[in-house]
Amino acid sequence: MPDKEFVAANINTAVENGSVSWEAPSNIALVKYWGKKENQIPANPSLSFTLKNCKTTTKLNYVKVSEDHQNSEEINFEVVFEGVKKESFKPKIASFFKRILPYCAYLKQFSFEVVSENSFPHSSGIASSASGMSALALCVMSLEKSLFPEMSEDFFYKKASFLARLGSGSAGRSVKGSMVVWGEHKDILLSSDYYGIEYPLKTDAVFKDYQDTVLLVDKGIKQVSSTVGHDLMHGHPFAEARFKQANDHLSELIPAFEKGDIQSFIKIVESEALSLHSMMMSSDPYFLLMKPNTLALIHKIWEKREESGIPVCFTLDAGANVHMLYPAEYKKEILEFVKNELVVYCENGHYICDEVGEGSKML
Ligand code: DP6
Repeated sequence: MPDKEFVAANINTAVENGSVSWEAPSNIALVKYWGKKENQIPANPSLSFTLKNCKTTTKLNYVKVSEDHQNSEEINFEVVFEGVKKESFKPKIASFFKRILPYCAYLKQFSFEVVSENSFPHSSGIASSASGMSALALCVMSLEKSLFPEMSEDFFYKKASFLARLGSGSAGRSVKGSMVVWGEHKDILLSSDYYGIEYPLKTDAVFKDYQDTVLLVDKGIKQVSSTVGHDLMHGHPFAEARFKQANDHLSELIPAFEKGDIQSFIKIVESEALSLHSMMMSSDPYFLLMKPNTLALIHKIWEKREESGIPVCFTLDAGANVHMLYPAEYKKEILEFVKNELVVYCENGHYICDEVGEGSKML
């Protein structure tokens, strides 16, 4: 099994209690992950910009439990989110602990308190599962490191991404910066279906501080979760063509990153966003996550690009919000454009200014 290297020995630890804290960023996919196999293995490779400002901070408090409680298959934990005890967050975290237990058997020896907060409003429609699962996985790895101090830094981050992926696929891309590939791709050496790696090939400086202004069209809860959407790719009439397209797009992005070819970047990134949503529209049952204002914003962005020559483009995640991407040198002009012409399409005029970031940080 290729994931065998991540199985930790089940030692009887002398560690009694402690606390670790990590901050992990969100990410925005340029090549989208949509469709997966058993055990969170992606149907195609994906690539993302790590973000800087949208992040989750998580503190994991742990206490050793008595031996009689250690045989239970369930991990005992509480969740506190933004100062309030959150029962509703427990099922997702319980399923995360269950999935990672075969790789982290030592977890059974402890009970936990997960104390978390996001830098962005919970009701912004921005998914916190990527940053949240990544921050929690990193905390688990800090605990593992205290039990196995000889662990290398490389292994630490690889396993953190591996565990985060088991919580939520895109979370595996939220450990490192500034661009991450997850999923095996023929042109990217060491790329893996099991964890994300930092994009290893030459990248022009323009992409190092690329801007992402998130235009918040709809801050409500999504009607269809990503997990359900991924599942609808099984038996989807266009699935194979879509998985091939994602692989091809990643191949085409490689020379664009190298040369700083923004025009090719735009073509690929916008095509990925629209292909993702066309998969949703052609699923059985079909569904639609874009809203009228999503389309209005896409047209405004296209008009702006046409009229001003500024290479601004958009991408979408599994929701109605629009991520507007552009090189940092146009920041002032684009933010004027947002204030003067785009806020009317945003729910309560809200948007978030973000940019490419460096990845997670231990606190
Ligand atoms: C559209 O990672 O949220 O944002 O693995 O089921 O938790 P699960 O799904 P998730 O899917 C993300 C889908 C996407 C594209 C992407 O981020 O690549």
